[in-house]
Amino acid sequence: MEKIQAKERIAFLSDEIRRHNHNYYVLSKPTIRDFEFDMLLEELIRLEKEFPELAEPDSPTQRVGGDITKEFRQVQHKYQMLSLGNTYSEEEIRSFGERIHKITGDDVEYVCELKFDGVAIGLTYQNGILVQAVTRGDGVSGDDVTTNVKTIKSIPLKLQGSRFPEDFEIRGEIILPHASFKKMNEKRLEDGDEPFANPRNATSGSIKMLDSAEVSKRNLDAFFYYLPGTDLHFKTHYECLLAARSWGFKISEYAVRCKTLEEIFDYIISWNKARHELPYDIDGVVIKVNNLKQQEILGYTAKSPRWAISYKFRAEQVTTKLLSVSYQVGRTGAITPVANLQPVQLAGTVVRRASLHNADIIAALDVRIGDMVFVEKGGEIIPKINGVDLELRSNEATPIVFISNCPECDSALIRTAGESAWYCPNENGCPPQIKGKLEHFISRKAMNIDSLGEGKIETLFDNGLVYNCADLYDLTYDQLIGLETTYESTDEKKERKISFRDKTVTNILNGIEASKKVSFERVLYALGIRFVGETVARKLASHFGAINALAKADYDALVEVEEIGDKIAQSILAWFSVRRNIELIERLRASGLRFNLDEPLVARISNTLEGLTFVVSGVFTNFSREDLKKTIEAHGGKNTGSISAKTSYLVAGENMGPEKRRKAEKLGVKIISEFDFHSLIGIPQNRVTLF
Ligand code: IVH
Repeated sequence: MEKIQAKERIAFLSDEIRRHNHNYYVLSKPTIRDFEFDMLLEELIRLEKEFPELAEPDSPTQRVGGDITKEFRQVQHKYQMLSLGNTYSEEEIRSFGERIHKITGDDVEYVCELKFDGVAIGLTYQNGILVQAVTRGDGVSGDDVTTNVKTIKSIPLKLQGSRFPEDFEIRGEIILPHASFKKMNEKRLEDGDEPFANPRNATSGSIKMLDSAEVSKRNLDAFFYYLPGTDLHFKTHYECLLAARSWGFKISEYAVRCKTLEEIFDYIISWNKARHELPYDIDGVVIKVNNLKQQEILGYTAKSPRWAISYKFRAEQVTTKLLSVSYQVGRTGAITPVANLQPVQLAGTVVRRASLHNADIIAALDVRIGDMVFVEKGGEIIPKINGVDLELRSNEATPIVFISNCPECDSALIRTAGESAWYCPNENGCPPQIKGKLEHFISRKAMNIDSLGEGKIETLFDNGLVYNCADLYDLTYDQLIGLETTYESTDEKKERKISFRDKTVTNILNGIEASKKVSFERVLYALGIRFVGETVARKLASHFGAINALAKADYDALVEVEEIGDKIAQSILAWFSVRRNIELIERLRASGLRFNLDEPLVARISNTLEGLTFVVSGVFTNFSREDLKKTIEAHGGKNTGSISAKTSYLVAGENMGPEKRRKAEKLGVKIISEFDFHSLIGIPQNRVTLF
């Protein structure tokens, strides 16, 4: 394609993608099928790679992330980011109204809005293009998180129309919807990471990640609610909201104008109930004076505007009786104490169980069986016990004695120094741990044996047919035919019975057979080594190439791999030091599973870089970091995460941290630019070719 045609096509594709993004993420009204959308985006990515000089900084391809930040730059806010005065009662709102009336002397109209429970953000647009995104920080200056914010699909990179100010700031809240929060925590648990306590923590953790490609996977969203600055031509705050909506921002549909305090109270009461039906968290309501002139007259205190106030919902709390405590054993052997409660209505659902977290928390609360306890549903999805009504404690209340043996296999529990959880160490003999490992092994992202889903693996275990994943490959038709399984279907919420008839058995055996073709990195993930999630497994597979090399790797060799730190390295070493695990691998290998990369993850172009080890750091002009690394692999080189004496080259981009440079200089590692790198693989400096 000629450059001139490419330019036109890029402009067309960018507009189309922007329009569909807005319809989908802001208006929730998709206007294109996913597949067709992906085709448009792929074409744009391809064209921008072919003609990098035509890629615009506001291109929708920025959404996928890719740039890595070393640390966030501190930026001073043009308008201080103040907080709001909190109120908790009708009286406090009445005195807020009186204060306002006294100062303005006029009738006042208010706007009531939801108070989003997320992370505050200020976005700056110049000539309709997003140029900067800064967190609240201490209110005076915050972190520049622009690269990460650009991956949030509902945030416009380029505004619609032309009636926006040339240079302005808009403020809002980044949030994580419940569905994405749930998915993210499930993945963290699967990867052996600590789950986030609530969506707000998950949002703030996500927005501070250094790898924007990771942020883009988190499905963050954002609502906007404030245009600071006095040079706008609008008369009211409500007009500002409508205008911002027309520029493409996501503005809550629940912002309403109220003429009286009574209307405000109605708004509060109805949202206090209805908030549980929203797909994201709110923690109150914000009440703002609508007229911007009146806002100006009212002004600010040192900490907050006098023209706005928040009403915070109390975390809904009920009292109920603690009947007993049971203990659950997870896939990793971690023991979770669970409170069994007298069923009670809370925040729209009947609560029967609540988390008691761990032994330390039980001791700190001094909670006893038979106590009346306060149960709260805060930001967290699982309710928790946050206190005891001591006045109602009876003499019969009995202290909780944390179990010392596993409730499933009776092994003595252990606790590692510094960790709060107790563990059952009987990894290979404790039923829920064995079943958990098997479930993980067959799961979609691992060996993907879906014919063993819906409780079938449990049946195989209960019938003594499988104890570990290698046993799956020894199963025969005769062992399976005629077995029966009952399971609770999650969709239908009722028990279903399945008999293993001819078709089921054939499906199972075919599924197991097909799994032998699953690639090495997924087999590695399927083994369920603690902290070896999907990404880590991929990095290990491409670095070591085969399980033998990984099994032989010592600590230093492991931490040299990108993203592998102390915790993961220790866990891998521990896993490979167990004889039973080595035997497991031998059996799986004998069954035909793949334990090496037949072909590298990236197709080989040349062997020019064979034997050379690279560290890639910073931001590059012609490559994304990922592409640069793929190119290295495609020419036979290896990528590592940290510089050591073994590193051959440090490819340095812009904004590379000084620490890396110093270390490279100290160890005598050659530092090269991306252009030097081109020469290395024999590409003229002025021509950019991707692998
Ligand atoms: S207005 C100067 N509106 O609550 C006033 N804030 O406690 C600017 N928040 O830092 C804030 N929803 O992060 C406003 N509809 C809303 C809000 C909201 C959530 C947050 C915001 C602010 C904090 C104040």
